[in-house]
Amino acid sequence: MLKGKYLNRITEVNKIFIDKIVKDGDTVVDATMGNGYDTVYLAKIVGNNGKVYSFDVQEEAIKSTRKKIEKEELNDFVTLILDGHQNIDKYVKEEVSCILFNLGYLPRAKHQVITKPNTTLMAIEKSLELLKPNGIISIAMYTGHEGGMDERNYVCEYLNKLDQNYYNVLHMEFTNQINNPPELILVEKKG
Ligand SMILES: C[S@@+](CC[C@H](N)C(=O)[O-])C[C@H]1O[C@@H](n2cnc3c(N)ncnc32)[C@H](O)[C@@H]1O
Repeated sequence: MLKGKYLNRITEVNKIFIDKIVKDGDTVVDATMGNGYDTVYLAKIVGNNGKVYSFDVQEEAIKSTRKKIEKEELNDFVTLILDGHQNIDKYVKEEVSCILFNLGYLPRAKHQVITKPNTTLMAIEKSLELLKPNGIISIAMYTGHEGGMDERNYVCEYLNKLDQNYYNVLHMEFTNQINNPPELILVEKKG
């Protein structure tokens, strides 16, 4: 199958922006740790002068991510938190430059454990408070699973009304793909 260079997957598109915005020494959050790919990705950018807080509600996610960060020797500055991202303010007390959400379920695990509209929105509201000027919240959304479309609509309804004097909200989608392609929303706090 033919492949593009930058736009095959929403997570690749996301990295075009994150690579530019997140810097060595930054404090960042992975709000949906899963198998830890995003946590490792962020940790490699911020390096050991930075800090990564990573959240998930499943033990499996913690185990799988812990293995990866130990192998890559990133554990000194990565904190894995077994709790919902809606409680982000209990753990993160400083301003951050980036908060990543990759919504939905953990691939290859129980598909009943999915992110939910209410808690996702609560986490996004708290994330807006924690974000430093010119920082970014990135939200990858999937609509193919049960509840996914409701969550997407709930999140969009809220973000579409954010005051443009304070935030830029960009919504991206693959307009020529079939079968519920994922979507990406980026929120930048104005400086
Ligand atoms: C699509 S996966 C994330 C993939 C991950 N970013 C990676 O790199 O592998 C979504 C994750 O969100 C987690 N999740 C569900 N509800 C959550 C909540 N309230 N707070 C934090 N994580 C949650 C799920 O357990 C699942 O692991």
